[in-house]
Amino acid sequence: MFTYLPFDQVKNISVLGTGTMGASWVSYFLAQGYNVSAWDPSDGWESRLRTFVDTAWPQLESLGLASNASKTALTFNNSPESCVANADFVQENAPERIGIKQELYAKIDHAMPDHTIFSTSTSGLILSDLVTSVDTAHRFVVGHPFNPPHLIPLVEVVAGQKTDPAVTEWTMGFYKHIGKHSILIRKEVRGHLANRLQAALWREATLAVVNDLASIEDINAAMSQGPGLRLAVMGPHMIFNLTGGKGGFEKFYSHFGPAMEEWWKTMQGEPELTRELCDAIVAGLKDEAGSRTIDDLEAERDRKLLNVLKAVKD
Ligand SMILES: NC(=O)c1ccc[n+]([C@@H]2O[C@H](COP(=O)([O-])OP(=O)(O)OC[C@H]3O[C@@H](n4cnc5c(N)ncnc54)[C@H](O)[C@@H]3O)[C@@H](O)[C@H]2O)c1
Repeated sequence: MFTYLPFDQVKNISVLGTGTMGASWVSYFLAQGYNVSAWDPSDGWESRLRTFVDTAWPQLESLGLASNASKTALTFNNSPESCVANADFVQENAPERIGIKQELYAKIDHAMPDHTIFSTSTSGLILSDLVTSVDTAHRFVVGHPFNPPHLIPLVEVVAGQKTDPAVTEWTMGFYKHIGKHSILIRKEVRGHLANRLQAALWREATLAVVNDLASIEDINAAMSQGPGLRLAVMGPHMIFNLTGGKGGFEKFYSHFGPAMEEWWKTMQGEPELTRELCDAIVAGLKDEAGSRTIDDLEAERDRKLLNVLKAVKD
């Protein structure tokens, strides 16, 4: 019989892969007061991880640290097996390649304690495909975060065909316990749910470039200065509930539904991601960014995100 730890007995979290996602997860788990054990196969990862945690820490402080939170609770490992040896929970952030993840899972399958739950950050791979050679597949689950996970609350939880339903339930509860907003995706589909929504939006944003509807800057503003602001507060169905005025969604459905259906008919197909298209988007982004570097833009995103998070928490 598989036994799960009560949430308040979880002490040790392991993070495999400390690139963009992993470093952010490490920062978040430390801020929540956990001992974090990390591993990454690349050269110089320890100092990059320390720098990331140092940069993220003031942001996490402003959101509120756990009383026992400490940056010194971070340990560095030289193998995935040693990284997970004492884990109560594992968050895996290896590159989005089936072969890499399968190879990694084979190494840690029996290196984890029996009670450990293993969650992968995969953006869109099918968990059942990743665990084909894993003996303990019942404790593997998807916990898909959004960049940067030390700030963005959403985590999509998806079970594979072999995942124990109790593991899925535990994982949903655990992410909530540590302050995340977990949602359950009921079926395994490429891209889960939120990335499919993003992909639909980006398809239109890209077609807007191909069809020369507006400048890159204005296409960005069409979302960030408009519907994007509302979408930070309420999701698409609830927003349209209000689009119908006092008549609510019923009014929206009968009033705007037919128009939407007409627009959908003109939205078939997808753009071809050519070199020229990429160049056009990069040129437009350079115009919009001006002298701001990627580091500047990331800092600006995170500073503004903190304000949005504090606002929507109300
Ligand atoms: N970047 C995003 O916005 C985002 C968002 C949500 C989920 N994810 C998912 O998170 C995972 C990691 O993505 P990322 O953006 O952090 O990638 P990344 O390239 O920034 O980081 C990947 C890290 O994995 C390390 N690595 C290489 N081989 C490895 C191995 N065999 N085992 C463990 N680690 C290994 C690399 O050295 C690197 O540090 C992917 O599954 C991705 O789909 C990414």
